[in-house]
Amino acid sequence: MARHLVVGGAGYVGSHLVAELLARGEEVVVFDDLSTGHAAAVLAGARLVRASLADPQALDAVLAEGPWRAVFHFAALSLVGDSMRDPLRYLRRNIGEGLALIDACVRHGVRRFVLSSTAALFGSAGSGPIAETSPIDPGSPYGESKWALERALAWTSRIHGLRYAALRYFNAAGADPAGRLGEDHAPETHLIPLAIDAALGRRPPLTVFGTDYPTPDGTAIRDYVHVADLATAHLAALAQLDAGRDAVFNLGTGRGNSVREVIAAVERAAGRAVPHTLGPRRAGDPPMLVAAADAITAATGWTPRFQSLDAIVATALAWRDAHPRGYNDT
Ligand code: UFG
Repeated sequence: MARHLVVGGAGYVGSHLVAELLARGEEVVVFDDLSTGHAAAVLAGARLVRASLADPQALDAVLAEGPWRAVFHFAALSLVGDSMRDPLRYLRRNIGEGLALIDACVRHGVRRFVLSSTAALFGSAGSGPIAETSPIDPGSPYGESKWALERALAWTSRIHGLRYAALRYFNAAGADPAGRLGEDHAPETHLIPLAIDAALGRRPPLTVFGTDYPTPDGTAIRDYVHVADLATAHLAALAQLDAGRDAVFNLGTGRGNSVREVIAAVERAAGRAVPHTLGPRRAGDPPMLVAAADAITAATGWTPRFQSLDAIVATALAWRDAHPRGYNDT
C-alpha cells in the first residue's frame, strides 16, 4: 500500500480519483479547504485534512507525513466565464497556489506530481480534433493559469527531477457509477447538471449560449468524458511516471457533441423535455473542443469505459435524481 496525497480531493474530479484509489486498496490523504468541495464527497477510508494551499504551515505539515507515492493537484478555480470577468484573481490564485504546492513537493522530496490541466489552454483551436502537439493558445485566463503550471512543472522536472503528468481534461461529466459521488457546484454553471435540473423542474429553463457557431447545428461542441474514466487515466499516467517518463495527455473520448445533442440526450434519459431558451454566446467559449484522444491509449492502453453520451448522462441523472440538493442530501 502506498500513500497518495490528493489536493482538492473533495471536489468533483478529485473525489472520483479518491474512489478509484480506495478501490485499488491504496492509502489516501485529501488536502482540501472545502471552499468548493464537500466533506461528504471524501469517501470513508480516506483522511481529510481541511486546510488551504494559501497556508504554508499546513502544507508543510501534511507533506512531512510522507513518503508519498504521488501528489495530485486538483485544487483550482475552474470556470472559464468567471476567469474572463476576474482575470487577475484566476492568475494569482491558480498560479500562486500551484507554484507553492510544487515548491513544497520539491522541498519534501516528492517524486511524482499529477496536474489537473485543461483543454481550455488550446483556446479557439481550429475545427479538428486537438492533439497534444496542437498549438497552445489559451482563450481565457483560466486556461493561461494551467499552461503556466504545466511550464513550471516542465522546468521542475528538468532541474529537480520531479516527474510530472499534465492531464488536459476536456469536459468532465457524469457521476460515480456506484451512486456515491456526483457533480455539485455552487453556483452550478455546467451544461449537463443544468439541463437535468431544468428537465426535473428544479431550476428555470436552460439558456443555450450561442446558436451562431460554425458547427452543424450552430451550438458549441464539446468532448464529454466520464469522470470515472478521468480517474483511471490518472493512474495510467502515474505508471508512465513510474517508468521515468513525464506524461502530457489530452483526456477525452475523441467524440464531440453539441449543446443541442446534450439536451436531446438528457431528454431521452429523463423521459421529459428540457425547457430552454436561446441566448447569446458566453465570453471565452470556443466553438469546438474535441480531443484527439489516442496518445494516452497508445502509451498506456487506457481507453474510456463510457463511450456514449447517453451512458454518461444516465449516471449524472441517477445521482441528481437521488440528491436533489447535492451533497446536502448525503
Ligand atoms: N452551456 C450552455 N448553457 C449553460 C451552460 C453551458 O449553453 O447554461 C454551453 C457552453 O456554452 C458550452 C457547453 O455548454 O458550449 C459546455 O459548457 P460547460 O460550462 O458545461 O463547460 P465548459 O466547456 O465551459 O468548461 C469545461 C470546464 C472547464 C474546462 C473546459 C474544457 O468547466 O474547466 O470544460 O473543455 F476548461
